[in-house]
Order: sequence, then C-alpha cells, then structure tokens
Amino acid sequence: MLALLGATTLMLVAGAPWVLPAASGGTNLKSPENGRVCIIDDNFILKWNSNSESVRNVTFSAEYKIPGMDNWKKLPGCQHITSTECNFSSVKLKNVYEKIELRIRAEKGNNTSQWHEVKPFIPFQKAQIGPLDVHLEAEDKAIIINISPPGTKDSIMWAMDHSSFMYSLVIWKNSSRLEERTETVYSRDKIYKLSPETTYCLKVKAELRSPRRVGLYSPVYCINTTEKHKVPAPENIQIDAENQVYVLKWDYAYENTTFRAQWSQCDSSCMCYFLSLEYLTHGRDLSSEPTSSMSP
Ligand SMILES: *[C@@H]1O[C@H](CO)[C@@H](O)[C@H](O)[C@H]1NC(C)=O
Ligand SMILES: *[C@@H]1O[C@H](CO)[C@@H](O)[C@H](O)[C@H]1NC(C)=O
Ligand SMILES: *[C@@H]1O[C@H](CO)[C@@H](O)[C@H](O)[C@H]1NC(C)=O
Ligand SMILES: *[C@@H]1O[C@H](CO)[C@@H](O)[C@H](O)[C@H]1NC(C)=O
Ligand SMILES: *[C@@H]1O[C@H](CO)[C@@H](O)[C@H](O)[C@H]1NC(C)=O
Ligand SMILES: *[C@@H]1O[C@H](CO)[C@@H](O)[C@H](O)[C@H]1NC(C)=O
Ligand SMILES: *[C@@H]1O[C@H](CO)[C@@H](O)[C@H](O)[C@H]1NC(C)=O
Repeated sequence: MLALLGATTLMLVAGAPWVLPAASGGTNLKSPENGRVCIIDDNFILKWNSNSESVRNVTFSAEYKIPGMDNWKKLPGCQHITSTECNFSSVKLKNVYEKIELRIRAEKGNNTSQWHEVKPFIPFQKAQIGPLDVHLEAEDKAIIINISPPGTKDSIMWAMDHSSFMYSLVIWKNSSRLEERTETVYSRDKIYKLSPETTYCLKVKAELRSPRRVGLYSPVYCINTTEKHKVPAPENIQIDAENQVYVLKWDYAYENTTFRAQWSQCDSSCMCYFLSLEYLTHGRDLSSEPTSSMSP
C-alpha cells in the first residue's frame, strides 16, 4: 500500500511539475508546450502552445545551445514575446549541419515557468525549400522562364546546393486545366510548342536529389503568348547533292538574321527528309516554323 501511494505521488510530480512551488521558484506559471520549429529556406520560426492563456501580460523567451557552447544563450528574436511564435532567422549559426537545442519558458514580471525543451534538430534536415520567384516572358509559341534559386542571395541554408537544384514545372492553358503538362526545366529555360495568343498558367517547384527534398510550389503565374509572328519564312529551300555532299540553300529577305536547320529522316529506305529552318533576328528566336519537307 505504501509503495502504491509513493508511485501515485511520483506520477503527479512528473505530470504536473509547474504546480510545485519549490520547483518553479514560487510561481504558478505553466510551461509552454509543443515547441516546434519550422524552417523555410533561411527563415527560422519557433512556435509553441501557451499554457497561460488565463494569465494576463504573460510573455515567452527562448534560449539556444549548439555544440561547443557551455551555456544557453538568449535566442535572438525570441525574447519577451507576447504571441506564441517568434522569428529567430537572425541567429548566427556557424553551419546548418550542427544539432541545435532550444528551450522556452513563460514569464511574468520576475516569475518564470520551468523551461520547455524543444526536440533537438539539425537545421538543414528540417529546412523546406520555399516557393520560388519566377519571371516570365512570352513569345508567340514559347515562354521564356527565369527562376530565382531558393533562398536569398547570401543564403546559408542552400549555399552548398545551388547548382544541384532541379526545377519541375506544371503548365496548362488557363482555358483547360485538363491539358496539363509537366516538365523539368533549368533555372533559365524556354518552354516550346505553345499556341499563340493563349493564356498559359504555370507553377514551379525546386527539387534536390540528395538528400531527396521537394520544395513548395511557387504561386501560379499566368502570361499570354503573343500574336503569331508574321515574319516571312525562308523561301526556295533546296538541297543540292553532289558526291554525297549536301548543300542547303534558301532565300531570305531580312538582314541580320541567323538560321538553324534541323533534319530528320523519315525512313532510311525511302530517302525522304523533313527539313525545318529556324531563324533568329537580333538574337531572338522568332519561329521554329515553317517546316519544309522534301525528297532529294
Ligand atoms: C509571482 O508568483 C508568486 C507566487 O505564485 C505570486 O504571489 C506573485 O504575484 C507572482 N508575481 C507576478 C508578477 O505575477
Ligand atoms: C499589463 O500590462 C499593461 C501595460 O504594459 C498594464 O497597464 C497592465 O496593468 C498589466 N496588467 C496586468 C494584469 O499586469
Ligand atoms: C524573419 O526575419 C527575417 C529577418 O531576420 C525576415 O527576412 C523574414 O521575412 C522573417 N520571416 C517571417 C516569416 O516573418
Ligand atoms: C524583481 O526582482 C528584483 C531583484 O531580483 C527586484 O528588485 C524587483 O523589485 C522585483 N520585481 C518585481 C515586480 O517583483
Ligand atoms: C483564367 O480563367 C479564369 C476562368 O475562365 C478567369 O477568371 C481568369 O481571369 C483567367 N486568368 C487569366 C490570368 O487570364
Ligand atoms: C490575356 O488574354 C485574355 C484573353 O485572351 C485577356 O482577357 C487578358 O486581358 C490578357 N492579359 C494580358 C495581361 O494581356
Ligand atoms: C544589321 O547589323 C549591322 C551591324 O551590326 C547594322 O549596322 C545594321 O543597321 C543592321 N541592319 C538591320 C536592318 O537591322
């Protein structure tokens, strides 16, 4: 019976330490609970649940400790907070691969609650890739996309990974979400095979392969493709074949234009070729049309 009583008393102590005046320095403030950290890129947010809603003018303060530190230090951005979250992005971490410990307590005047310890964590492992900033430029049948890499210019979180990001894009015609297309793109890239004068919407997310990490989607960006370019196509396309040397010729009326030819063989036995000429003016891709087909 005595043993049982002892056990019951112990359970009470473990379950509700804040009711013990001796343990909490003579106060009745309850410790906050459920401390958790949310990291997006280089933004560090600590959140918790208050157990002192009924107490007026209660504030919260947090401390941190990293390996090599003997004592707890005040967590910048998280002192005397009246709400239940704080932004400690200004903490100067030597690196993001070291375990960090956090603790938080409630306070009122000179009274404080006991510390609530947050589960220790490694910032890099917890960090999410934030939504991306995307810049779009429209052509008649293509959209040029320019994606800013995650984080800020002097991001420490992704400093090692900038070149490892891959970007996954979903694009659709605003008029029909059904024809959705997914592509992997580079941070500067071009999406082809679109229709002129059409509203396209897209969103992009970043991915890391190793360690595997998938970012949040960017907001949806929409843009209208332009009118179909009315620049004339190359004319009189001919192939001269002499001793297995093929020479491609064409006429074109405009100055300062460069050309790019593509070919495909439809069937090795029938010797027919499809040839398409792409032409550029002032460095801008005007069109990948027209396609001329011919049989030499
Ligand atoms: C601090 O705690 C003591 C004991 O619970 C209480 O008497 C006192 O009013 C508290 N002070 C404040 C500022 O809340
Ligand atoms: C809370 O703080 C405000 C201003 O800081 C003060 O006027 C008020 O008396 C305080 N209330 C309590 C219950 O301490
Ligand atoms: C957190 O603070 C940083 C500056 O230290 C700021 O750039 C960022 O926007 C803040 N984040 C939030 C969610 O308030
Ligand atoms: C808080 O404590 C200090 C000394 O520890 C004392 O001078 C001060 O009066 C106390 N304030 C309150 C509100 O109890
Ligand atoms: C997309 O389509 C919806 C419904 O048809 C329309 O309300 C919206 O304005 C369109 N968005 C753009 C950017 O054109
Ligand atoms: C895009 O095109 C739609 C209709 O095709 C038009 O309502 C809208 O104003 C255009 N948006 C822009 C930014 O030009
Ligand atoms: C072509 O380029 C040359 C030199 O780059 C320039 O002087 C000329 O004006 C250009 N012609 C046209 C039609 O743009």
